[in-house]
Amino acid sequence: MKNKLQKLKDEILEQLNQVKSSELLLEIENQYLSRKGRLGELMKEIKDLSADAKKEVGQIANETKNEIMKRYEEVKQKFEMGRNKNAFTDVTLPGKNLAAGHIHPITLIQKELEDLFTSLGFILLDGPELESDYYNFEALNVSKNHPARDMQDTFYVDKKNPAGEYDLVMRTQTSPVQVRALEKYGAPLRGISVGRVFRSEATDVRHEHTFYQMEGLMVGENITFADMKGVLELVGKKLYGPKTELRMRPKFYPFVEPGSNGEYTCFLCHGKGCRVCKHSGWLEIVGCGLIHPDVLRAGGVDPKKYTGFAFGFGLNRLVMLKYGIDDIRLFNGGDLRFLEQF
Ligand code: DAH
Repeated sequence: MKNKLQKLKDEILEQLNQVKSSELLLEIENQYLSRKGRLGELMKEIKDLSADAKKEVGQIANETKNEIMKRYEEVKQKFEMGRNKNAFTDVTLPGKNLAAGHIHPITLIQKELEDLFTSLGFILLDGPELESDYYNFEALNVSKNHPARDMQDTFYVDKKNPAGEYDLVMRTQTSPVQVRALEKYGAPLRGISVGRVFRSEATDVRHEHTFYQMEGLMVGENITFADMKGVLELVGKKLYGPKTELRMRPKFYPFVEPGSNGEYTCFLCHGKGCRVCKHSGWLEIVGCGLIHPDVLRAGGVDPKKYTGFAFGFGLNRLVMLKYGIDDIRLFNGGDLRFLEQF
């Protein structure tokens, strides 16, 4: 029995040493090592031996089997590694991209403008979207029955404030941040604020109940209209390129005096006239002016000592012009086919 085991072991190891392919290895496995293979059959004979012999031969048989299996595993591994070596792995291929989200086009332009203004020493200001009638209108020179209220259709909120009055509105503009900021920081002050504003509008391609504005103000000693023009000219060049020009035309806003509309040369036709600028060569972008003394006073700033300018514009319109977007409702629509383009 011991001899038989030794002979079979020699035979199998010899075969394993010579095997040339994984197919042939499989054959060896079937012939010798599987349950009905020759090694298994031989080991079954052990049970017929006498008790003493069984013990001795059983041990030798186990050792023999372990030795064979060890060699078998080594050979098998060699073939598997060989197979991987042949499989071509192109390590220069780009990895699988995880689908990342997109920055909303409004946020893109917001970041661009915030970069410009912070580089000019402006700080970033914030104010509440649910605003009091006082900050949204009264402190900005728009009293209850002032006709200027009609310029902005307002969502009046059917809820009392902590003092028990109905005086809350969804802010219609970012201008209330002016008074809040002056109260908080005093003069001199340079700041901008970007945020959502709300108007009770019937929506269509150009009107939306929720949109974005940016507000800015600069208050200090001897701040003039010329300073405002300088800053707004920079904004135009940042938005539409270095050749962009600014022109000012008078416009009434209750919280500035004088008030003005800032218009930039059209980025598409450079002033010649085209579809984007409705053939005028100019794009009306920004409302601005020198801050009204009443507004400075409301913010706790002495208008005899300090002057300042303020400006505000809608970000949606800027983005629409820049990318040729023809429906303002896309901004809040959440349609990925729109959002994935930026
Ligand atoms: N708040 C104005 C609006 O919503 C825009 C505006 C005009 C802001 C003139 C200003 C300003 O700060 O000086 O139409």
